[in-house]
Amino acid sequence: MPSLKGKVATPQGVDGDYENEFQLELFPECCETQSKGRFITFEGGEGTGKSTQIKLLSDYLHSIQINNIQTKEPGGTEIGQSLRSLLVTGDKDKFDAVAEALLYYADRRIHLTNKIWPALNEGTWVLSDRFADSTVAYQYYGYDKKVSKPLLDDLYQIAVGDFKPDLTILLDLDPKIGLERSFKKSLEMDVKETRHESRGLEFHNNLRKGYLELAQNEPERFVVLDANKNIEQLHIDVVKAVKERFKL
Ligand code: TMP
Repeated sequence: MPSLKGKVATPQGVDGDYENEFQLELFPECCETQSKGRFITFEGGEGTGKSTQIKLLSDYLHSIQINNIQTKEPGGTEIGQSLRSLLVTGDKDKFDAVAEALLYYADRRIHLTNKIWPALNEGTWVLSDRFADSTVAYQYYGYDKKVSKPLLDDLYQIAVGDFKPDLTILLDLDPKIGLERSFKKSLEMDVKETRHESRGLEFHNNLRKGYLELAQNEPERFVVLDANKNIEQLHIDVVKAVKERFKL
């Protein structure tokens, strides 16, 4: 398949082959000017403590009068909740990986247009538990039957354009520890969101390596933190990273 790159979407509008058939304004509210709020994403494998750290960071930011919202992928919007239940429950092989990547991107696009971009434009900071790095880590580095990297890059261009997080905090942890935490947590859930946890340890090790490679490739965006610390110590590291990045 010829690459779609450069033909589909730019922050300035749509160009190339799609111009006549696809007049939708793809990037309505973001990208052209630097948004007022900041977009911080948390990434990592299973059981790395992302949701706990996001909550603590949100409380800290509120305490210094920075308005912010907490959100997540998949399922950061009401519509996205239905996509989330399709994606995180049930048999691990129920989708072809391309179909799965498209569903994650549908969820992401709804998340951006309905929640993330409007919030940033109002000056609200957005803290998201996962974003597009998760798709590369899981559907490319993790999966045996992977989605190709160029295809994922094209999907990013179509759905997200040149927009990207201002800071990505990668919580790095030995998957053996993370999976144990995550299984314990799942015992308390009515609906078991363990579709990916049920993949083998090799998958989770590849995922971890993939995340670290992503961080190495974009050191200006990522901060990697050792998640094998207690909650309070890790929170101190998160706050330090945020203060340094945004000169708070
Ligand atoms: P979590 O919110 O509890 O981490 O669950 C989301 C699951 O979905 C997690 O196992 C990672 C997976 N996932 C992907 O495989 N690709 C993606 O693009 C995203 C956002 C999540």
